[in-house]
Amino acid sequence: MNFRIFTILSNLTPYWWEKSSKIRVYFSISLLLVLVTSVFNLLIPVSFKTLVNNLLTIKSGFPNEIIMLLAYSFLWLGSQITIQLREIILMRPLQRAARLFSIHVFSHLHNLPMSFHLNRRTGALISIMERAQQSMPELFFGAFLYVFPTTLEICGAILILLLLYKAHYAVIVSIIFVIYLLFTIVTIRWTSRAQRLSNEKDVNANSRIVDSLINIEAIKYLGSNDHEINTCDHLLHLYERAEANKKIIFESVHLGQGIIMGLGLFIVTWIAVDDIKAGLLTIGDLVLINGYFMQFVYPLSHFGHILQDIQRGITNMEDALNILRHPTTIVKTKKLNVLRDTSIEFKNVSFNYNGRKIINSLSFKVNHGETLAIVGPTGTGKSTIARLISRLYTPQDGQILIGKYPLDAIKDEEFSRLIGVVPQDITLFNDTLLYNLTYGLTHTTQKEIDQAIEEAQLKEFLSSLPEGYMTKVGERGLKLSGGEKQRLALARLFLRKPSIFILDEATSALDTETERHILNILSTNYKHTTRIVIAHRLSTITNAEQILVFSHGKIVERGTHSSLLSKNGLYTILWKQQLG
Ligand SMILES: Nc1ncnc2c1ncn2[C@@H]1O[C@H](COP(=O)(O)OP(=O)(O)OP(=O)(O)O)[C@@H](O)[C@H]1O
Ligand SMILES: [Mg+2]
Repeated sequence: MNFRIFTILSNLTPYWWEKSSKIRVYFSISLLLVLVTSVFNLLIPVSFKTLVNNLLTIKSGFPNEIIMLLAYSFLWLGSQITIQLREIILMRPLQRAARLFSIHVFSHLHNLPMSFHLNRRTGALISIMERAQQSMPELFFGAFLYVFPTTLEICGAILILLLLYKAHYAVIVSIIFVIYLLFTIVTIRWTSRAQRLSNEKDVNANSRIVDSLINIEAIKYLGSNDHEINTCDHLLHLYERAEANKKIIFESVHLGQGIIMGLGLFIVTWIAVDDIKAGLLTIGDLVLINGYFMQFVYPLSHFGHILQDIQRGITNMEDALNILRHPTTIVKTKKLNVLRDTSIEFKNVSFNYNGRKIINSLSFKVNHGETLAIVGPTGTGKSTIARLISRLYTPQDGQILIGKYPLDAIKDEEFSRLIGVVPQDITLFNDTLLYNLTYGLTHTTQKEIDQAIEEAQLKEFLSSLPEGYMTKVGERGLKLSGGEKQRLALARLFLRKPSIFILDEATSALDTETERHILNILSTNYKHTTRIVIAHRLSTITNAEQILVFSHGKIVERGTHSSLLSKNGLYTILWKQQLG
């Protein structure tokens, strides 16, 4: 465990030691209650000893016994009440701290670059977040309500033994506790390794299950249900072995701790019994020594577990804290620049995915209110350009400007208002058509929605649906046809009214008639916007002010439709191929 716990706890301080004074008061009260419980616990054996000795000597009469009995019961009851009370008081602040931490991780995940998400598995991230949420209270309960008070009470008990009796009791009890602790600390290395392994197998199995369920359609097409079940079974089997192994190691450690305590109890009681026979100790003293021992058997047997819990908590929290250490790429500017000029300019932009060069020193400019079309063979980096403008990725070299501002000088709120994208692969939220249409918008009127539906040529489709706007679209929109999804994505964009439209094969699944309608609407109703249209079907882009013919990350030709045709180059070849 080393000193990692202190690093972790200090990293978590902003979440539990919040600036709200109420929360700090809760923590302070429970800390006070921890101290009160410890005092009660230390006094219980002392009061019991007095009661027993009193009974044996039968010196005093009725009132004394009652007072001692009441004192003993009061201490015991007081200890129980304060133990429960401190947990009750801490529960809300700790759950709140767990929530604050989770939401911080969640918002950080949203701000991380696409490359992070593409290299991660969703299931694994969910697992890490879930475990962190659980571990936060565990870690605090373990450290503040167990390790700290138990250590305090053991030291107090040893001090009392030292004051009341010959030194050897305190020495023997200390030696036993030290052996116990050393054993626990040494074995924690095994238990934490087992815990890590089990976590890893758990994450693997979980993320594979999530992946499998997300891709259910592809799996059905490929008829690979059995393969999926076998793979998941294999991963679950690995988890089963790791988890069983972990539990066995945990229980073996627990057994070892029990044996050490048992031996300790035997030795101490044996010496005490000898001392009683020699007249050096009273029965009450035996009760006291035994009392301390028994009192610590329970917390100490849990001590191991709690240390393991803390260890597990640390491991889990570290996984979550590691996510927070990933830097977010977009530099957020504090200034809100209102952009009127929405021209887009690429200045010698180069970009690679993990070292694989896709875009090579690319320069172009699209003026405000114009359409730029990007065409070219598949896999040459057209969608990558759309991702770069949308800030999903940052170029390694060069600069992208909107108006006179570099992309990272535009505040998030302004940016999301500015740019509207229909990506090549459209995914929808598993909710209603209306939810997907108005997602993220706060003030939308029915009139605006109807207009967007009309513009996106969705009116007929919508009126054919028995549930209309309330129709559920299914996981990622799987219940809609490709063309319906594209039109819904366009309607969503029309409703948002961005200043820049980026359409990546946004009408590729539509018939030519519908496509023509939508393109007309785009160039009439939205002519004041800047439009970037990526298309394989060249008939889509013949009216564009500028067409870039793209090949291997470079522009090989540029111009209008007619000027490109007169060049007799790649564009002409593509055009002729499509004409058949
Ligand atoms: N996240 C990614 N990580 C690594 N490589 C990627 C990533 N996304 C795309 N690529 C690769 O970058 C290249 C360009 O991809 P891009 O999607 O920009 O092509 P495209 O021109 O839009 O193709 P298409 O016409 O098929 O849509 C492809 O070879 C692709 O394999
Ligand atoms: Mg593409």
